[in-house]
Amino acid sequence: MRLDQAINFDDIRILARKSLPRIAFDFIDGGVDGEVALERNRAAFDRYKLLPRYLVDIEKRRQTVKLFGYDYASPFGVSPMGIAGFFRPGADLMIARAAARFDIPYIMSSASCDSIEAAMAHAPKTTWFQIYGTRDPRITLDLVRRAKALGVRVLLMTIDTPVMGKRERNVRNGFRRPMKMTPSVIAQGLSRPGWTYRYLTKGGIPMMENWRPYAAEGANANSVADLYGEQTPAPAQTWSILEQVRKAWDGPLVVKGVMHPADALKCLELGADGVMVSNHGGRQLDSAPGSIDVLPAIADVIGGRMELLIDSGFRRGSDVAKALCLGAKAAFFGRPAMFGVAAAGEAGACKVFDIMRQEVSLLMGQLGWIDVDKAGPDSLFDLLDRRMGRN
Ligand SMILES: Cc1cc2nc3c(=O)[nH]c(=O)nc-3n(C[C@H](O)[C@H](O)[C@H](O)COP(=O)(O)O)c2cc1C
Repeated sequence: MRLDQAINFDDIRILARKSLPRIAFDFIDGGVDGEVALERNRAAFDRYKLLPRYLVDIEKRRQTVKLFGYDYASPFGVSPMGIAGFFRPGADLMIARAAARFDIPYIMSSASCDSIEAAMAHAPKTTWFQIYGTRDPRITLDLVRRAKALGVRVLLMTIDTPVMGKRERNVRNGFRRPMKMTPSVIAQGLSRPGWTYRYLTKGGIPMMENWRPYAAEGANANSVADLYGEQTPAPAQTWSILEQVRKAWDGPLVVKGVMHPADALKCLELGADGVMVSNHGGRQLDSAPGSIDVLPAIADVIGGRMELLIDSGFRRGSDVAKALCLGAKAAFFGRPAMFGVAAAGEAGACKVFDIMRQEVSLLMGQLGWIDVDKAGPDSLFDLLDRRMGRN
């Protein structure tokens, strides 16, 4: 299959699988422990059915959305993903540029390979920035300072990684630094010559550019990654880090990885502007519910006082439509964008966004939505059915 023959996100995943050695593909594709949450994220969407409305003029459908006061072309965007440069050199900037072309938010991870400075130079309106709390909070706060100086529109702080989940595919594949050249890794490399050529000619393990300033001068990519590994996760962190970030950042602040309604309320109390409901794509707590499972309860307690975003398992326009009906303003996805760029660079990321844009448009047509603000409980069969007293 070629990129132009891909018609959905499953096809993009197949293309990535053909481009990447197993150790790299599994790093993206895998979940934590037995990968139950990974599957649950997908299964959770099937619980909801959408009710179409017909004979509504939907010829000129608008999928534009306002997020934190800024207009974007579609109600979806790209979740933050670290070490993208390992999958294709320059991947962060390729996704950043593709997102700018589609006018959708791209959340750069602070664990990316290209820097936030470079991403802002390429895509100043659509690049948002994600940080983790670090053991030494001065690093977190310096990342905030840099984002502010660059005029980043939206800052996210991820809170769902107090410890790093046991990602068993990585353990079995021997994913570690420096990469050990076992016979299996060499065989994988030989079977994916394009990836291996790019990896070897671009200098091997990519530098985590956002972290370079915090390492000793002249530190190589491995030492910078070591520093990152010493500083994150920060298991002793508490809500105090969010308070410090809130003081340091006067723009829109979103807390990513919120699953419990009480935590959502705590974010509101501490002055966050939004939460991103997320179980980290099934990569952290394997017994977690699907993120769409907890969205209604979080929407209930928040009652419109913060903007709600969501990710984890979004692969179809219908998934996005369901999240909008349940109270999210936009849905994000991670792996499909990484698969797209791993398979075909910037064109691969564009293909992914194009597929989703078209699916959202078709869904809106089916549901009788001229605008995304028509999304609501009225389009959800399950809620309507309950209201009719039949459930
Ligand atoms: C390769 C990879 C790297 C990730 N790195 C980060 C990260 O640095 N920060 C973060 O908040 N989430 C990170 N995540 C989680 C994503 O932001 C997102 O929550 C998840 O991928 C969404 O699920 P989906 O991939 O099923 O769409 C990562 C996910 C993947 C697949």
